[in-house]
Amino acid sequence: MNRRKFVATSIAAGAATIASSAARAAEKRTVRIVGVSCSPRKGKTTATAVGIALEAAKAVDSRVKTALVDLGGMEISGSSGGANTTKDDFDKVLPMFANPIPDGIIIGSPSYFRSMSALCKAFLERLAVLRKPRLILADVPTGVLAVGAYRNGGQELVIEQIQSIMLCHEVMIVGGKPGAHQGATLWNAYDDDITKDEFGMATAKQLGIRVAEAALRLTAAKA
Ligand SMILES: Cc1cc2nc3c(=O)[nH]c(=O)nc-3n(C[C@H](O)[C@H](O)[C@H](O)COP(=O)(O)O)c2cc1C
Repeated sequence: MNRRKFVATSIAAGAATIASSAARAAEKRTVRIVGVSCSPRKGKTTATAVGIALEAAKAVDSRVKTALVDLGGMEISGSSGGANTTKDDFDKVLPMFANPIPDGIIIGSPSYFRSMSALCKAFLERLAVLRKPRLILADVPTGVLAVGAYRNGGQELVIEQIQSIMLCHEVMIVGGKPGAHQGATLWNAYDDDITKDEFGMATAKQLGIRVAEAALRLTAAKA
């Protein structure tokens, strides 16, 4: 083999090794999905629904790891319009969304007068710190769910409002698999036992599956 051929063969072999180790790294890399429940009531229907979505996400692939942030009982005030100097519980939850950056996000809110809860709005306003100097959450697959006491209590409106806010982060909005194409919609018709809402439970699972699929695909593409 002459020198030129030897160099060309070595470069090709090196490139193949790098490509296969990158593929192996992507294969092994943990895919972290963070769910946030934005009801002021800790551990109630919204938190349960987000938990169900996260469980379904985890079942998609062994690389998927999940964490639930329950804002219930926390004090979070909305944006002050400029640099926020308020010291409240937001500081406790911020690292879950910034360090490390999640590979997927699921946001849940109760429907309050056909809108997201005030806590949800406050949390999302404060999350604006992740937009500057760069859009930290850009391209992160993000799905939304909403719970209402009425079957048509504004769940889809709430989902749309949250999606609109998250588009300002340039996240990749995803819905759910069939039955939940806009997001998960749950009906708290059984005295806070949301697990009895079979249709709603199915939509929460479909949302979790879709977020996991998108997160896995994007993580592999980034490797
Ligand atoms: C102030 C307030 C407004 C509400 N407005 C609505 C509404 O517009 N539509 C609806 O379906 N349910 C409404 N509900 C009911 C809640 O969405 C429902 O109980 C939900 O399951 C609460 O979530 P949580 O169990 O996680 O706290 C409202 C509840 C409160 C406290």
